Order: sequence, then structure tokens, then C-alpha cells
Amino acid sequence: MCGIVGFIGDKEKKQILIDGLRELEYRGYDSAGIAVMDCCNISVFKAVGKIVNLEHKMKDVEFNGFGVGIGHTRWATHGKPTELNAHPHLGEFSYVVHNGIIENYQELKTFLISKGRVFLSQTDTEVIVHLFEYNLSLVEDCFNAFEKTINELKGAFAILLMTKKESDKIFFAKQGSPLIVGKSNLNEIYFSSSDAPLIGHVDDVIYLEDGEYGFAKLSEISIFKNFIKIDVAPKKLPNNKQFAQKSGFRFFMEKEIYEQSQVIADTMIGRVKDSLVHFEELENIDISKFNSIKICACGTSYHSALVGSYLFERVSKIQTSVEIASEFRYKEPLLHENTLFIVISQSGETADTLEALKMAKHANMITVAICNVDNSSMVRVADFSILTRAGIEKGVASTKAFTTQVMVLWMMALHFAQIKKVVNSEFIEKEILAMRESSNIIKVKEFYHEKVKRLSKRYLHGHGFFFIGRDVFYPLALEGALKLKEISYLHAEGYPAGEMKHGPIALADSELFTVALMPKNILHDKIKSNVEELSARDATILSISPIEFNLSDDFIKTTDTEHFMLEFFEMSMILQLFAMEISIRLGNDVDMPRNLAKSVTVE
Ligand code: M6R
Repeated sequence: MCGIVGFIGDKEKKQILIDGLRELEYRGYDSAGIAVMDCCNISVFKAVGKIVNLEHKMKDVEFNGFGVGIGHTRWATHGKPTELNAHPHLGEFSYVVHNGIIENYQELKTFLISKGRVFLSQTDTEVIVHLFEYNLSLVEDCFNAFEKTINELKGAFAILLMTKKESDKIFFAKQGSPLIVGKSNLNEIYFSSSDAPLIGHVDDVIYLEDGEYGFAKLSEISIFKNFIKIDVAPKKLPNNKQFAQKSGFRFFMEKEIYEQSQVIADTMIGRVKDSLVHFEELENIDISKFNSIKICACGTSYHSALVGSYLFERVSKIQTSVEIASEFRYKEPLLHENTLFIVISQSGETADTLEALKMAKHANMITVAICNVDNSSMVRVADFSILTRAGIEKGVASTKAFTTQVMVLWMMALHFAQIKKVVNSEFIEKEILAMRESSNIIKVKEFYHEKVKRLSKRYLHGHGFFFIGRDVFYPLALEGALKLKEISYLHAEGYPAGEMKHGPIALADSELFTVALMPKNILHDKIKSNVEELSARDATILSISPIEFNLSDDFIKTTDTEHFMLEFFEMSMILQLFAMEISIRLGNDVDMPRNLAKSVTVE
């Protein structure tokens, strides 16, 4: 998804902007660009593909002395990933970068063309800079022209605009897409669409809110809302950059799989006590008020939501439904105040989930965001939020964000069960014991990784994969299939094992790979007979289980534990390694798979 950086100051600007864009690479992009202005010269560079291509184009230039610069990584929405469509976009004397979507761009473009403006790209973004210059011809003051422009745009945006007419400033606006601004000790100004590029440059930042806009120049940030200047208190910027490095692993995804043991433990700190689970974040929720829970999410977060629905019903005895956020938005859902509304999102910026959250708020529901990014849009919109504490996740294919989400949901289920008094102390004790063991069980053991590496070579062809499981292992099967297709580009489907005979079994033959999740502690005999049915049709079976299964072609023996959630966490790690090793053998870019973005901030 698109990323934005900006800088005002004396330091060499090429490196600051390139380094900033690199920190945003994990979000996914297909082109990048930079514009730098000193006094009244503007230089612009754009390249399709990786940032290294842009860097190559800029290898002979440096921008020392005072100036302003803006940069952008683009993930194509309107128009193909070409240099012409890459940002920054040019008017006659101004440049703009933009994240989000301008919904009324077509009518604005028609209007501007009728006024003689010439468009070069297919993007929605280009209207912003032309509209600004057109408005400037009417009002003759840059800030007023920018303010007027922002008010004429519909949709979602984070915008940085610079113009030769006031060459010491960057004009900015935020509506629905994240934008952060900070001032360094030397009074330089830094902009970014997320924390990472700012770390090390500034200590305090302003997380702009929807509807805020303004301008910045050396030592000054002026913010406005509804035509009035406002004061906004800066917040401390996190300074943890160690998560942003690969620490010797081949890929961020690999590093993140290995980190799960630590982050699962972090997720429990202060929440899992000696004899109970406690969420300070939820202290003010009266759970007795709710007769049901609804969870909305997308992708991997949707899979963890499904796991949550099993746990809330089984442990907390609260009826729970789960919806894919993009479906929920338009189905005209019936929303009741006695339903607790939960959204789950790694990034906290996913457009569909954010919109679902806003709908729930609008319906006066109590809302909770389970999220990995503090100060993200969802965290700011929801009534309550629980941070998953997974640390920055750079691999586009989510791993540690998923398992920490599941951990939070498991703890929440027990937390609600304690409050509702639907479980006894013996049950709570057993659950807490298992929770404490989770961090150990998910630790990557060398022999698992070796085993997965070796057997991955047998799964590079064939006509597809079925991942099958039952109960919470059904959403895990969905997740295993999603991981594999995201980074290997092989066709994979997740299925509830009991459903296979209702149709999909027709596909079974030796070229159909079935990954069977066969835990000991939940419905083992049931899934065993489902897998036997597939084996009888000659499907190739990889079974993952603590119990030997003699019909499998490949077998990964997992730890013999007494709790299904421990089996769940161990199998999650194995499926992540399986997808990654296949992707590596196929020579794919594990961390930045084709066509995908880390943070999907458009519909
Ligand atoms: O940031 P979110 O958790 O809201 O993102 C939702 C999905 O876009 C995300 O989980 C996606 O499916 C990942 N690529 C999964 O690996």
C-alpha cells in the first residue's frame, strides 16, 4: 500500500527521503518517486519497481542546503504501475504525493480539463495538484488555495504538496489515511505515513486526525480544522528499531516466525496473572450487558476472528458471529447495542475493517479494536483497544500478528468467562497453565524447521492443496492455505474436514495434496475418518499430528500436549514454515509477494 515521506531542512535530502521510503517498503508498492525543491528549482525522480531502481536514477545527485522534499511509494489503484502514474504528480509549478482514493476525481478532472489543465497520468491523485493551482489562480494565496482544494475533495487522503510559489513550505492534509508530522531538535520537519521512517529523527510527533490540514516550514507546524487553527499536543514516538532489521534471518517472515515465542509471552505480560486473566483495557466494559459478540476483520485477522468465535462460545458462553469486513459493510447489517462489536487488524488501517468499526460506532455499539499498531486509525476510533504487542511485522504474509491475535482472543474468552462466572477455578487454572506454555510450544525447534525444509521439495507441483481441520483447526486450515497461496502462488484451499465429502472430495487424486491438521485433543477420530476417505481416493496426505497416522504419505509428529490450543500454536508455526520453505524453493520474494500490500488502506 502507498507510503509517504516528507522533509524540510538543511540536511542532504535524497538520503533522508530514500531511507524513509525503505522503511515503508514492507507495506508493498510497485513504483516510487521523490521530488526535491530548493529555492525555486524542483527536481523529480520516479522509477517502477523497487526503491533501488529509484536510487540508481538518483545516484549522481545530492540535495544539500535548505530545501523541501516529498517522497512516495505507490501501490497501483487508478492506472498501471508506470513512471507516469508514479507520484509525485506535477502541475505547472507544484508537486503532490497522496495516499488513499479521491472518489470525485473524475468530475474534478472533467472540470479542470474544461479550464485548460493538461493531465499526464491516469491517477486520481493528479487532480489534487491541478485543482490547487486552479484555486490559486482564484484566491491568490497558497494556504487558502490549499484549504479550498481539500474542501473540494471527496474520499480518503493523506496529502503532501509543495509549490514553487512558497518554496519553504509543505502543505498537508489528512482524511481517512494516516499521516504523522514531527519536528527534530534542529527544527527540521519530517512527515511520514507511519512511525518507522521517523524513528531516530524526531522524538515527539503529531498523529494528525481526520479533517486536519495545514502547512509546515522550518521550525513551524500549523494545523487547522474546519478553517480554525488548532493546537495539537505531540506524542512520544516509539524508538524500537530493532524489530526493523532481519537479525540474520533470510527473510523478515522467517524472523517473525521465530519471534513468536517472545511476542506471545509479551502479549501475556500483566494480563495473565497467577490465578486469573485480567485486561486493564476492558475494565470499563460491563460484559453482562451483552448477549452476543460480533467480530469483523479481513484476511488473516478474519481467521483469528473465527478462532475467537469458537473460544467465546466454548469458554465464555457468549454467542459470537464473525463477518468479513468487506461483506459486512454493504449488507445493511442489523446492529444492536447489546452486541459487543470487535474488530481485529494487524495494521489498524484496513479500510474495510475501519469502515465496519465506524458503522458500529454509528449504531451506538460498544466497540473494541484488537490491533498491533498503537495510534492506528482503529485504535483511535474504537471505544476500547487491546494491543497485540507483536512488534512491527514487515513480512506481508502475517505470522506473529496472527498468533498474538489468537492469544489475545483466548485470554479475552477466559476473562469474560471469569466475570460471567461460567467457569470454575479448576478450569481457569488449567487454561492459565496452558497459556503459560504457549510461548514454549510455538518456539521453532531446529528439527521441525529441518523436517519442513526437506519435505517442502515434494510439494512444488501438483494441482492444488487442501488444508483441512475441524473446530479451531478449521480457521487454522484456512490460514495455512492463505499463507501458502500468498507467497508460493500455488492454489490452496482451506476446508472444514467434515465438508470434504459434500463436494471437494471429487478433486481427490494423487496430484491433490492434502495437509491434514489432526490434533489429539479435539475430534481426533472424526478428522481421522475424514482423512481416511481422502486417502482411499489416493490423495497425497501430509498429516500433522502427535499421533502416528499410517495412511499419510508424509507425517510431521507434533508434541503430545493436553490442550488443543497448544496444538494450535505449534501447528500454526509449522504451517508458516511450510509455506515459507515452498516459497523459497520456488524462488519467490517471500517478504513482498506479488500483487499484495501489507496494509490495505483502500476498499
Ligand atoms: O492489517 P489487517 O490485519 O487488518 O490486514 C488484513 C489483511 O489484509 C491481512 O491479514 C492479509 O490477509 C495478510 N496478507 C495475511 O497474510
